[in-house]
Amino acid sequence: MKFLEAEFVQGFIRMANDGWEQGWHERNGGNLSYRVKPEEVEYVKEELAAGQWQPIGTTVPGLAGEYFLVTGSGKFFRNVIIKPEDSICMIELDENGEQYRIVWGLINGGRPTSELPSHLMNHEVKKLASGGSHRVIYHAHTTNLIALTFVLPLEDEVFTRELWEMATECPVVFPSGIGVVPWMVPGGRDIAVATSELMKQYDVAVWAHHGIFVSGEDFDVTFGLAHTVEKAAEILVKMLSMQSTKRQTITPAQFRDLAVDFKVILPERFLYEK
Ligand code: 13P
Ligand code: ZN
Repeated sequence: MKFLEAEFVQGFIRMANDGWEQGWHERNGGNLSYRVKPEEVEYVKEELAAGQWQPIGTTVPGLAGEYFLVTGSGKFFRNVIIKPEDSICMIELDENGEQYRIVWGLINGGRPTSELPSHLMNHEVKKLASGGSHRVIYHAHTTNLIALTFVLPLEDEVFTRELWEMATECPVVFPSGIGVVPWMVPGGRDIAVATSELMKQYDVAVWAHHGIFVSGEDFDVTFGLAHTVEKAAEILVKMLSMQSTKRQTITPAQFRDLAVDFKVILPERFLYEK
């Protein structure tokens, strides 16, 4: 079995390319990771060759011994579909969750994304919170959502409520809401800790003046979540460009009616009176 033909690798490549086609990945912007299933590792194991152990930059004991497919640092999403073996890699974590080693890919050198601490800490949190069903973490430079971080207060309640109001599907797609991380230096442990703390209750986090982080069970659901949030952000940007106030919108009472029919729990703290 050729590594690149495996279904999980094909799904990863397709998602990276879908993000590129949306315009969310200028240059090397954004990164993607997938927690590989044991049977998928088994499927490709004859093509794996272990490199040197390297420090992760944080500790993720809850992911000890697991394998991940990740984009490379400085690699362009544009190139993932064209030269995947140069743009992405599979890594294995050690038995303490402190080090990783490349077992496939990045054939011309390099290392996993600089946001590996954020990806792995988010995977650790979501694996626990979802009972193991969440496997994908995605970071993208979503244009409209970034634009909103310059005009909306950087508060979970405001981002959640304003985006919910932009499309009726939003509270159904992200009922637990959106967390907001204030501007922080990317690529390190501090932003990883702040984001993974929010991911205990949300599947979406916004990085102010930077982008989005989302978590999901598979490539479709995770990409669909980012797409839905960014679409709502685009509508809000358009609305605010026409006028600063809404003539009409979805009311808290209407959100409560929707929650009953669609069987979702919408936390009351997002349904405040304005
Ligand atoms: P990498 O190229 O290291 O993945 O960084 C891109 C990025 O978006 C950092 O936040
Ligand atoms: Zn980024």
